[in-house]
Amino acid sequence: MTDETMRFEAYVFDAYGTLFDVHSAVYRHAGAIGPQHQAFSDLWRVKQLEYTWVRSLAGRYRDFDVLTEAALDFCFTRFPSVDRGLKGALLEAYRRLDCFPEVPAVLAALKQTGARVAILSNGTPAMLTEAISAAGIGPLIDSVFSVDALHVYKTAPAAYAMATEALELAPAAIAFQSSNRWDIAGAKAFGFTCHWINRSGAPDEYPDLAPDAVYTTLEGLTA
Ligand code: LAC
Repeated sequence: MTDETMRFEAYVFDAYGTLFDVHSAVYRHAGAIGPQHQAFSDLWRVKQLEYTWVRSLAGRYRDFDVLTEAALDFCFTRFPSVDRGLKGALLEAYRRLDCFPEVPAVLAALKQTGARVAILSNGTPAMLTEAISAAGIGPLIDSVFSVDALHVYKTAPAAYAMATEALELAPAAIAFQSSNRWDIAGAKAFGFTCHWINRSGAPDEYPDLAPDAVYTTLEGLTA
């Protein structure tokens, strides 16, 4: 554990893409989906996120479960060769995504320092409860904050404020981790200390909203 990471009283994690592998749902059915499975999974994620931003800006909130299904429906239309009969299985798999392999040990190490560990996510409380339970990480998480309580998605400042208000900490005293560069931009604009978990080696964006540190996995927090 580095000096830099030990000073945080709370570690707040994005869920989808950061703790849970959003592509694991499609991977489980890759054979049935066929050779376009990666493009299908990528589009599912892109559309799901687009719907959050459009609906937040338009003031027309629908919950993340509904948007996840709507994005999947779009993918079936975009990839007509993929069997729509897989819809139920894919949605079920999305509720029980794999967590990334380092997640349990990293969360346990952070908790051992006395830090509070929380999730701040666009997911509905029900989605998050099921994903946490399926991954077996419930005992390692102190609080789960879902933007569903606000009816607005990240990157609205109000979404990040859920964590500062509930944890009673100033934004910079919270270490926020996300694999999503757009989420890091929003969290940095809000004032969190931000660790971008750049799992895919993506190019940097939002130069005026830079992360405080970049790691390839969450293990960077405890190295
Ligand atoms: C989350 C998604 C957006 O908030 O990654 O968990």
